[in-house]
Amino acid sequence: MTAEFPAARPRRLRRTPAMRRMVTSTRLHPAELIMPAFVKEGIAEPQQVGSMPGVVQHTRDSLRKAVHEAAEAGVGGVMLFGIPAVKDSHGSAADDPEGITQRALRDVVAEVGDALVVMADTCLDEVTDHGHCGILTPEGEVDNDATLERYVSMAVAQARAGSQMVSPSGMMDGQVGAIRAGLDAAGFSQVPIMAYAAKFTSAFYGPFRDAVETPKDFGDRKAYQQDPAGPRGEALREVRLDLAEGADIVMVKPALLCLDILREVRDTVEVPVAAYQISGEYAMIEAAAANGWIDRDRAIMESLVAIRRAGADLILTYWATEVARRI
Ligand code: PBG
Repeated sequence: MTAEFPAARPRRLRRTPAMRRMVTSTRLHPAELIMPAFVKEGIAEPQQVGSMPGVVQHTRDSLRKAVHEAAEAGVGGVMLFGIPAVKDSHGSAADDPEGITQRALRDVVAEVGDALVVMADTCLDEVTDHGHCGILTPEGEVDNDATLERYVSMAVAQARAGSQMVSPSGMMDGQVGAIRAGLDAAGFSQVPIMAYAAKFTSAFYGPFRDAVETPKDFGDRKAYQQDPAGPRGEALREVRLDLAEGADIVMVKPALLCLDILREVRDTVEVPVAAYQISGEYAMIEAAAANGWIDRDRAIMESLVAIRRAGADLILTYWATEVARRI
């Protein structure tokens, strides 16, 4: 009796590095990476973020340097998160022309021009003393429509400071439409909106709360961010609403936890799709690697490839500069 040997041998294309390289479908390019960066008002030295080894709260100077390095490495964009020295209930720093985000935007644009796309997060949680993404009612609920007014004012302040794109992340209903109208009325019809469109509430935002100094007792965002176990069609609905309101790029977040959503969105829309590899995804890999439990560099690349393969055209990642240099 002759043994039956397979005629189809997928392993043929995997045998050598040259063969694997030739048949690769998923490649990463520096231009599709966006680096999120934190900048804190009033500090003299960059401050390590405890739960994100390798990530700092920048001074204005160290931010300029980091963005310069990102541009040199070919990174596509930088997204700024400003942390004011003083926070209040309305997030006054958000639309103050001298607020930290606006100052940092001017610094960075002066440093790099349009060597990469300079943008900012357009949301209130970094600037409010209660840590929520909007204005609170006396009962403590996030007031959707009062918050929209603040977002519009914030987006216009960012555009005036030179932001080349705004990026609303607060998950208020109608935020993209309100910001689009506000930017247009203020003469910024050419400033695109990257909408955090499908954004799920997540324990994996934890380290970010350290980075932007959200009060420990702030509660949660379940009343405005999507429930990971929520209605099956909700993510696409959010994406479609944002597109109808004028979004130019739509984002899915968190990235690794939403690969299914990424694929669904990529297969449905005609605009670029971004994915945010969030702070907890970063921290998990760094922590495991620091313990010697996984190969750090391979884990980073594998996670980015998975996000890209699921459909992301753009990836926000704290490893942007490092990875851009490596690829
Ligand atoms: C909201 C915002 C958050 C993140 C980016 N923008 C926090 C949240 O949505 O709760 C999280 C990013 C990360 O975890 O890396 N302004």
